[in-house]
Amino acid sequence: MGMRGKTMRAFKDELNWCAGEIEKALDYFLPGVQSRQGVVAQAMRYSTLGGGKRVRGVLVMKFCQACGGDPRQGLPFACALEMIHASSLIHDDLPCMDDDCLRRGKPSCHVAFGEANALLAGDALINLAFDVLSSEESVKAVGAENALKAVNLLSRKVGVDGMIGGQVVDLESEGKSIDEETLEYLHRLKTCALIQAAAALGCIAAGASKEKLQLALHYGDALGLAFQIVDDILDVTGDVAQLGKPIGSDSEQEKTTYVTLKGLNGAKADAAQCTQRAREVLDALGLEEGFLYEFTDMLLNRTK
Ligand code: IPE
Ligand code: IPE
Ligand code: MG
Ligand code: MG
Ligand code: MG
Repeated sequence: MGMRGKTMRAFKDELNWCAGEIEKALDYFLPGVQSRQGVVAQAMRYSTLGGGKRVRGVLVMKFCQACGGDPRQGLPFACALEMIHASSLIHDDLPCMDDDCLRRGKPSCHVAFGEANALLAGDALINLAFDVLSSEESVKAVGAENALKAVNLLSRKVGVDGMIGGQVVDLESEGKSIDEETLEYLHRLKTCALIQAAAALGCIAAGASKEKLQLALHYGDALGLAFQIVDDILDVTGDVAQLGKPIGSDSEQEKTTYVTLKGLNGAKADAAQCTQRAREVLDALGLEEGFLYEFTDMLLNRTK
């Protein structure tokens, strides 16, 4: 108990430290609100700062560290990931998509700023992410060649064969019964792609080998699937106040999820299995214990 208590505390401190560093760096990179177009900067800041678990940013920093870098070296990449992620949530909540009014415990971006500003804030965040990846700060931290690799990898993971493609198949599948293979396919694109990019960009920030990068992509695939299955479960069993987003959104939009397809217990078993697969990749990376191991477990057992 004593020992376990200690590692748990160290883990939480470490997690909070990373989240704090990401928050400061995001604040630095996000635009000021004093221009004529300040309203869109306000919307960007509203949806990016002060909320979220920072899963993708933390993965960048911790993979960078696991590959021998300073976790702070990964901060520009971590910010880019969190900006893309925030943009995906802004767009995901729009009336033309999941039509959800609550995000991170606050009114969704389009509720607070109107649909047009929400659309533009999401677009601007995607552009800013690539600005940050290729920025002076980024090049100083990781070198021009690694920054360019990051631009290329992330743009692919966001695009038609990545997150955006996953959202397309997700929306196309509403109101239809789809099989498990299709569901896994769309989860892999809409969620795993960005989580893979996070782990991989951490490796790139540290200048890690191709082999490590490949393992990081495998880890992101397994963790991402577990993460989205748990997200589907929480849409049924979660608590609005804790989750900060609506419960029952998936059934309202007639989505097929792991829960509708396999039941709560089946979905839980699948999430546990994917988590085990993620742990095995950490073993292969020589990370049998430590932060990433605990992080992987924490995400399986999360309630928000
Ligand atoms: C929500 O992501 C969208 C999914 C891909 C499931 P997160 O659960 O990471 O959202 P925040 O960043 O913590 O709000
Ligand atoms: C969204 O999945 C994934 C992306 C935003 C790319 P969901 O639609 O399930 O995410 P939540 O539940 O609204 O956060
Ligand atoms: Mg959605
Ligand atoms: Mg949604
Ligand atoms: Mg969901």
